[in-house]
Amino acid sequence: MTGVHEIISPPVGAQPPRARTRSDAGELSLDGRWRFAWSPTALSGKDPADPGDTWDEIQVPGHWQLCGYGAPAYTNLRYPFPIDPPHVPEANPTGEYRRIVRRPPGWDGGRLLLRFDGVDSWFEVWLNGSPVGRASGSRLTVEFDVTELLTGGDDLLAVRVHQWSFASYVEDQDQWWLSGIFRSVALLHRPAGGIDDVHIVADYDQHTGDGLLRVEARSGEPVTVELAELGVRGVAGETIRVPSVEPWSAELPRLYRVLVATGAETISADIGFRTVRVDGGRLLLNGAPLVFRGVNRHDFDARSGRALTRDALERDVIGMKRHNVNAVRTSHYPPDPYFLELCDRYGLYVLVECDLETHGFSLVDWRGNPSDDPAWGEVYLDRMRRTVERDKNSTSVVMWSLGNEAGWGVNLAANARWTSDRDPSRPIHYEQDVECEAVDVYSRMYPTFDELDAIGRHDEPALADPARDVRRRGLPMLMCEYAHAMGNGPGGLADYEAIVDAYPRLAGGFVWEWTDHGLAGEGPDGRRTYRYGGDFGEPVHDGSFVIDGLLFPDRTPSPGLSELAAVVAPVRMRLDGDQLRVRNRWSFSTTEEVDFRWLLELDGEVMDAGRLDRIVVGPLSESRVTLPPAVRRAERDAPAGGELWLTVTAATGSARPGVDAGHVLARTQQRRRAAAPSREAEPLPPAAEPRPATLDGRFDHAARPKALGPFAVAQVGLDVWRAPTENDRYPGRGAQVSLETRWRAAGFDRLVDRTVEVQLGEASVRRVARYGSPGIDSGFDVDCHWTARDDRLRLDVVIERRGEWRLPLPRLGVVLALRCADPGAAELEWLGLGPGESYPDSRSANWYGRHRMTVRDAQVPYVVPQENGNRSDVRWLRLTGPEGGLRIEGAQPFEVAVRPWSTEQLERARHAAELDETGLLWVHLAAGVTGLGSASCGPPVRSSGQYRAARVRLGFDFVPEAG
Ligand code: GAL
Repeated sequence: MTGVHEIISPPVGAQPPRARTRSDAGELSLDGRWRFAWSPTALSGKDPADPGDTWDEIQVPGHWQLCGYGAPAYTNLRYPFPIDPPHVPEANPTGEYRRIVRRPPGWDGGRLLLRFDGVDSWFEVWLNGSPVGRASGSRLTVEFDVTELLTGGDDLLAVRVHQWSFASYVEDQDQWWLSGIFRSVALLHRPAGGIDDVHIVADYDQHTGDGLLRVEARSGEPVTVELAELGVRGVAGETIRVPSVEPWSAELPRLYRVLVATGAETISADIGFRTVRVDGGRLLLNGAPLVFRGVNRHDFDARSGRALTRDALERDVIGMKRHNVNAVRTSHYPPDPYFLELCDRYGLYVLVECDLETHGFSLVDWRGNPSDDPAWGEVYLDRMRRTVERDKNSTSVVMWSLGNEAGWGVNLAANARWTSDRDPSRPIHYEQDVECEAVDVYSRMYPTFDELDAIGRHDEPALADPARDVRRRGLPMLMCEYAHAMGNGPGGLADYEAIVDAYPRLAGGFVWEWTDHGLAGEGPDGRRTYRYGGDFGEPVHDGSFVIDGLLFPDRTPSPGLSELAAVVAPVRMRLDGDQLRVRNRWSFSTTEEVDFRWLLELDGEVMDAGRLDRIVVGPLSESRVTLPPAVRRAERDAPAGGELWLTVTAATGSARPGVDAGHVLARTQQRRRAAAPSREAEPLPPAAEPRPATLDGRFDHAARPKALGPFAVAQVGLDVWRAPTENDRYPGRGAQVSLETRWRAAGFDRLVDRTVEVQLGEASVRRVARYGSPGIDSGFDVDCHWTARDDRLRLDVVIERRGEWRLPLPRLGVVLALRCADPGAAELEWLGLGPGESYPDSRSANWYGRHRMTVRDAQVPYVVPQENGNRSDVRWLRLTGPEGGLRIEGAQPFEVAVRPWSTEQLERARHAAELDETGLLWVHLAAGVTGLGSASCGPPVRSSGQYRAARVRLGFDFVPEAG
């Protein structure tokens, strides 16, 4: 049997799609408490005329799975039901919604529309038991005319929503399957003589500085157009030249209010003048290069799924602005309409994507893909029309995307044709039109660095068809997705940025993705936890692949976001002798309002600081300025000894939308004076005579110290393994085997040791040990030499790889487990890179200096526990617990991670809330670590970020300090 929700069809009984406007015509929100009944199958047995007075209540907008009915489920591309289009399983959770609607007084004449902004996935509507219509297109607005059905009294609105429908086949985006009325519902008054639709095009002519305003309106009455601020008046249908406008850009989002009116209705639109164009193989905005330093963004909140408050939407936009992000791809559907209003106002370039994905068909070689089946043609076109028509007046929207990962076929080609006819003012994007048959930009996801570089040089592999090849090679290219931010990562952002910078053809890209989609829950002991695929008992799921954002689910920034902010900063600086080089990467603004300051530090102690004179660098230009004499003076006056570092910061001098004055845009540092030669060069003291230990019982029989400063030592050993990051778990583009697999094959996860030799001397002890793994004949030789100097202990260690190694090491150093009554609360202070974590391919966000925080705060709360919290280039480190203080000084800069749990605990836990402190402080001191990469979807760690030493020598002094 075929249900009505299994009939391939655009909405039935719906109005033609039209622009979202702000109008003075009446609008009544129907959001709030609705009656609700849930059924596990499509046959709910509920009568649309039943007001449901005794049913439960539910909040609209919302998803029923997050209100206690049914359960969320996560799959990436796999359909969680048999591929049998257009059919769906009988187990088809269904929500019955009811509420009373009262037409407000004063809404006389004209027509009444019922508007749904988002219902997942298919629904049917009744008023007082009479059918109104039915629709799908979960993230697409639909309106129904209900003029004849509203009585003016209490009218019963009934909505039946099915979780699964034919439409589920074209909504296979990588996200939670969540159902219900999840965006707003409203009743609209459409006055007689009102404006049924409006299309505003506001171009900017960069040669004359004029704006060109053209308004098309659908109305039975004459329509006037007014831009009062500039004294401009005209009528719809004519092109109005507006002299000397300030253009709109994400940098300077200048909006003008335009009133479009008839006698019966006034629409007020805030529009910016701007022109997007593909010209000479480049993507241009107002004639200047348009480079996306963007992110992919889903509508998502850890508690409410895709139902977002205005505050949550605004928080996202402000968060992007504060991290130097200038663009968003609305993956993979039009966002909540308010989001675009915010992008216009705050300034973000938006690539709006149609609500369309059929990725699951790739698993059956695209057999039966709706994209190439004419039976789905009308449904496809309807989706594209609803996308374009709703958002066509948004200034921030600079490009349309036909959808995501839906293969290729006649229906997409038709959508491209329709879109370019309907809106020639914006280029068209679609990544899976690989030959660029119908699109205006060449798009790729997760290219390797080499591929991107080749594309930048117009040197990508040729297409079979020479004509198509020539055309594609002439198009600008963007990365609709790159740098997969799953778990700890992405590494390599700076490398991508350098390639984008090098080639005019490259229009930047959008990091995957803005936020983790963890759903908030409570762990067994009441601790906050974030759930991912499988946590709801789904039989088919894709685990933590949904946790791949730059924000944690609670919307705090991850280190990856700080890294992105530093890498894409609009101002770049470099210190070069007594010169500062300043590069302005803005396309439209000068650095006139940027506040440049300098700071001189000696081993992390501030010596002097000051402000630089105003530096004015034009858009996309570079300048050199001489540092003021005060810097030289301060350098001269600094006491001898120690490292002298100069830092220059560039901060916003005045507030910009979403960004306060004083917000640091960029930072550069240079070591101006090295410390006295380190003790690295000092030879190890000669081996002690093999004699009984006389070090006051400070060592055990295996030559391990019993205490370091105030901390009893529970363990000392070689440290090679790390709890694999999620990027370690995948091979990555262009590779066959993951780092984790290679590391496990080498036995790094299960090293055991054997003492080769112990020497106990009068003032020193030495242990030579061999580390290896079961079944493996390679390993490490470790020579640990402890020397006592007063109350200090010095450790000199030489680690050597033994056997044939051809792979990078997770890390190489020693680990100490110290007994501590409250390890998480212990204070950590260090001189080195910080404050955040750093790895060889992700360290741009950090700066050299003194940093201090608790051990707990030094952990990065990845939803899935994994390697984290490494700090680089550390000179010394101080640990202070209830037991007292311990300073660890390196004979050479070192890498350090201090944790209140072990690597094994970190590796075993599946959710952060499962990590328990056990009275130990784990101190990981290393000569080097391997970087992060983004192999979970993108390329693996580049060779420059891989740690491959064959022999290292490390030296540390352990100095007790007053707590
Ligand atoms: C892409 C896809 C995204 C997401 C990402 C991996 O292929 O377009 O929706 O699945 O991979 O996280």
